[in-house]
Amino acid sequence: LDNGLALKPTMGWLHWERFMCNMDCQRDPENCISERLYMQMADVMVKEGWKKAGYEYVCIDDCWPSHQRDAQGRLQADPKRFPSGIKKLADYVHSKGLKLGIYADVGKSTCAGYPGSLGYYETDAQTFADWGVDLLKFDGCYMDWTLLGEGYTNMSKALNKTGRSILYSCEWPLYEWPFRKPNYTAIRETCNHWRNFNDVYDSWSSVKSILEWTASHQDIIVPSAGPGGWNDPDMVDSFEVWERPLSKNRLAVAVLNMQEIGGPRGFVIRAFPGWKICDPKCNVTQILPQYKEMGVQTQQSTLAIPVNPSGTALLTVTPISGDFTGIHK
Ligand code: GLA
Repeated sequence: LDNGLALKPTMGWLHWERFMCNMDCQRDPENCISERLYMQMADVMVKEGWKKAGYEYVCIDDCWPSHQRDAQGRLQADPKRFPSGIKKLADYVHSKGLKLGIYADVGKSTCAGYPGSLGYYETDAQTFADWGVDLLKFDGCYMDWTLLGEGYTNMSKALNKTGRSILYSCEWPLYEWPFRKPNYTAIRETCNHWRNFNDVYDSWSSVKSILEWTASHQDIIVPSAGPGGWNDPDMVDSFEVWERPLSKNRLAVAVLNMQEIGGPRGFVIRAFPGWKICDPKCNVTQILPQYKEMGVQTQQSTLAIPVNPSGTALLTVTPISGDFTGIHK
């Protein structure tokens, strides 16, 4: 889509794969879909160096709205879980130098059963623009497949009409593939990126199936991708990092390479700004699989740790007290 956005593939965080439709804020306030989750994520993206690494969008997925539109027919956020409203949330995310994404659906309702945008494209586009939203993920549930193209195109026009720069993320081809080969020329003209295949799960077999689909359809999907429009393989995670505090203010860190293929891969630790014990300096030692001194680190450091497929590197991080810093000068 030639709207000046997505000149490079979009980088950010989207809640679905991890938090899904968890609405139980009473018993599970830390993990439920609420304004708190996105504010916390914006903080983490800044504090732990993700923003610096280029991650820009904090994205809301399904299950954010109220089941009813307001008296003017506008979508509204669930008042219990988003007491301050989406505009305030967008202001907060913007104050961190990040952007806010939201989710809606081209059909009668969203995949999880919340109000869809069918019949409300202009109203919803204007509502998102008024709130200061920067990205729309537009799902394709509960829509007659023959009308997918029309629906996605009309929402694209409605977003453009608002005058606000809103990145447009579509699921159009995913919902059209079961019936016919999608028209990727039209999709590229309409959307900034588009999902082709199934939702990613937190498993190697899921990631592998997406890679396999992409590889076997590359002749069809690659020609349409480039600045302004991209194939979207859904969210990806392949490393896990576990931390545990130790005595004497030290920290144990396990880095797992979740891949089951290929050779060792370098995991780059950029978490030092989040580790208070590295202020002003800390010492990192690899304990397993081999003992290795990784050297003195500061909060600005990045450190690459090679980890075998399905392997783990175990590290300790030891603070260096003010008195000691002189030694390293
Ligand atoms: C579909 C989409 C997912 C997610 C869910 C939400 O399955 O493909 O990415 O948005 O709906 O209900």
